[in-house]
Amino acid sequence: MSKVAIIGAGYVGLTTAACLASLGHDVTGADIDADRVARLNRGEIPILEDGLPELVADGIAGRRLRFVVGAVTAVGNADFVFLCVPTPQADDGSADLGFVEAAVREIAPKLRPGTVVINKSTVPVGTTRIVKRILSDAGATDRIYVASNPEFLREGVAVSDFLHPNRVVIGCEDPEAAVRVSDLYRNVDAPILVTDAASAEMIKYASNAFLATKISFINAIAGLCEAVDADVREVALGMGYDTRIGFEFLHPGPGYGGSCFPKDTAALLHTARSSGFDFSLLQGVIDVNRRQHERMVEKIRNLAGGDLDGATIAVWGLTFKAKTDDLRDSPALYITDHLMAEGAKVRAYEPAEEAAARAATMQPGLEIVSDAYEAVAGASVLGVLTEWDEFRWVDFERVKAGMTAPNVVDTRNLLDPTALRRRGFTYVGVGR
Ligand code: UDX
Repeated sequence: MSKVAIIGAGYVGLTTAACLASLGHDVTGADIDADRVARLNRGEIPILEDGLPELVADGIAGRRLRFVVGAVTAVGNADFVFLCVPTPQADDGSADLGFVEAAVREIAPKLRPGTVVINKSTVPVGTTRIVKRILSDAGATDRIYVASNPEFLREGVAVSDFLHPNRVVIGCEDPEAAVRVSDLYRNVDAPILVTDAASAEMIKYASNAFLATKISFINAIAGLCEAVDADVREVALGMGYDTRIGFEFLHPGPGYGGSCFPKDTAALLHTARSSGFDFSLLQGVIDVNRRQHERMVEKIRNLAGGDLDGATIAVWGLTFKAKTDDLRDSPALYITDHLMAEGAKVRAYEPAEEAAARAATMQPGLEIVSDAYEAVAGASVLGVLTEWDEFRWVDFERVKAGMTAPNVVDTRNLLDPTALRRRGFTYVGVGR
């Protein structure tokens, strides 16, 4: 059992804290938000994440997990300190390291010799070295090690991804420290890859950029399928049987969003530019994604008769994907924003209630209602923007009766076009 401090109790920090506690470690999670810390110590989880409330409750009850205010309080006895603070996108596309640097400066004088400081936040290549320098400038002892241990967690299934990962990557220049970090995962059944720090940092960006590329690729193929009357779902299936391609991440949609892909692709492109490397492939991936958001607006505009001014549009789903309450870089919000900018009145139903309330404050004018039928009342087009499963089980006769025209744009290919067309709907999906 190791003593672990986790700095930052957001999606990544909280999941890491709860999962490491469940693996038997003694974990202290730190956050600057006193209210969040108080709520966490009562077992109240501020994010929607499957299995997390149970793990936090178990950890607290077993005295293997606690939350404190401020990083300094957490690190004094720690053998390992995980940095899980945000690295938001700066104006030039680069990842802003302000929070990481501030946290390192703050904890530096408090660290015991032998402690390993581990970057879990997604940080640009070279950050491990920067952290090492800040530590020594800020008066940490010589015997502090720095490692990169990127996370590959998908929101909604983050607990399961943490406990059953495809791989654990540890980047560290000191072999002994790397072995100690790998030992934190001894109860996890996964290959452990130990690399130099820069390669570990690059693995994270390259993985996300590759997944984003798969999505933009299939979105581009979907556009082409529409032009030649092919069905992208059959195409993706036929491609996926080739094990070199695989079935995953070939679902066309409104373009990728969320807290990682848009930010990480922009940051990697920034790294390429500042290293003088022409990564036009990645620029293409980003361009296709933006264009995909726009294409969804076009589909809705077309079904509204070519003009959105004065139209009433219903949308289902605002989060960037299903089973999360996260609205960060959500394609749905891009779409609602553009619909309203063209004069449409937009009424939205979002199953994650807190996300719905936040969306209303982010986009004044967006009307939020509390069920799927209320959203469609008087609407001429329904846009299905997130793949929440409950949208499949709606009574579409009732939907049709509520609308002024039975038009559906299914940006997630969630619904059954044949069944809807049989009921008299005009159905438009993506690439089919
Ligand atoms: C992602 C990575 O999967 C994870 O490894 C990384 O650590 C963080 O970023 P997450 O942002 O939670 O995780 O969402 P993910 O499920 O990967 O989806 C990202 C976006 O791509 C969503 O907007 C989703 O709707 C979209 N997507 C995903 C598609 O459009 N098609 C697909 O086939 C898969």
